[in-house]
Amino acid sequence: MTKGDILKGLEYVVEPDLKKNIVEARLVSNIRIDGNKVSFDLAVNNPAMHNRKRITDACEHYLQMHVNKDIEVDINVSALSSDPNERPSEQRKHLSEVKHVIAVASGKGGVGKSTVTANLATSLVKQGYKVGLIDADIYGPSMPMMFDTVHEKPGVQDVDGRRMITPVESPWGVKIISIGYFADPEQAVVWRGPMATKALQQMFRDVYWGDLDFMLIDLPPGTGDVHLTLVKEAPLTGAIVVSTPQAVALADAKKGVAMFKIDEINVPVLGIVENMSYFMPEDMPDKKYHIFGKDGAKLLAEDLKVTLLGQIPLVQSVREAGDAGRPAVLQANTPQAKAFDDFAQRVIDEVAKRKQPQMNLN
Ligand SMILES: Nc1ncnc2c1ncn2[C@@H]1O[C@H](COP(=O)(O)OP(=O)(O)OP(=O)(O)O)[C@@H](O)[C@H]1O
Ligand SMILES: [Mg+2]
Repeated sequence: MTKGDILKGLEYVVEPDLKKNIVEARLVSNIRIDGNKVSFDLAVNNPAMHNRKRITDACEHYLQMHVNKDIEVDINVSALSSDPNERPSEQRKHLSEVKHVIAVASGKGGVGKSTVTANLATSLVKQGYKVGLIDADIYGPSMPMMFDTVHEKPGVQDVDGRRMITPVESPWGVKIISIGYFADPEQAVVWRGPMATKALQQMFRDVYWGDLDFMLIDLPPGTGDVHLTLVKEAPLTGAIVVSTPQAVALADAKKGVAMFKIDEINVPVLGIVENMSYFMPEDMPDKKYHIFGKDGAKLLAEDLKVTLLGQIPLVQSVREAGDAGRPAVLQANTPQAKAFDDFAQRVIDEVAKRKQPQMNLN
């Protein structure tokens, strides 16, 4: 029995005044599991006795039905403050409806981080997952172009009395937020440290994502303010490091992996993905030219004892697809689409191996 199981069972319980399930409304916190005993805190809008009883009975019923018929449930009910900003911080946690948050990083710039992220997001959607994407590269946002949504603007919506931003959605259903949707595309955005931090915080706190299976975060290259903010703001399930097989990229990838492992960051590295592994001419898909060296990232992964998540070929149409806003993984039955799909599958496997993400971090 995991926290995830409990939350799934509790999704059947609707808070009568908010007319939303109690998980979606973020009313459940502090879940503790001990054998077949579970306890948690629950906030309700109307704490009158009869209402408490109705909702705690419902929790028990659905947990017995969907999780474990012998479950013993102990619920600590409190009243929800009428002012959303005064609600216990637990209920305002960002991204709490998101099951797995994955950061995509690289030490070196230009190794294909954004390309890999866009294709991973799209492959996951193809497999039926609900996926959101934060373009945290506030210095050089590329997601609006890679999803052909340059001229779209995020919306605004009231959620529980709070004004929130709604993400842009690609035609195949990836939800995206990027600083590029707010800034003038012609204008260079020069962010200083604190401004960068603030912009990124807003992407986490003020965007209404709804239910998501995966949230991917495309990081700027290197290690800096944005990376630290991210670790503080987002309950990361893990990080993926992108590298080419070339020595200069590998040295930086090694630093990238090391960054996630330092004590104050301490984010599990799901693995390394090798991009531009070999050049593949599309009219001769059997030919492989290892122009940046062979298996560099594969060997690095072995050396660092992390998983090699995939080897993506350098193919002209991958670049063209990125520029056209239709990620290459959408081109069915091509070797490059298969490479991206295999990579996505390994990411799913790695995520499944980790324990349930902490739902309430910070
Ligand atoms: N496997 C690939 N095959 C062909 N072209 C690729 C491949 N991967 C990336 N590219 C191209 O290489 C360029 C850089 O890729 P991308 O923008 O994804 O890198 P990045 O690591 O996000 O860069 P930055 O550090 O600037 O954010 C892009 O033009 C992209 O289309
Ligand atoms: Mg990029």
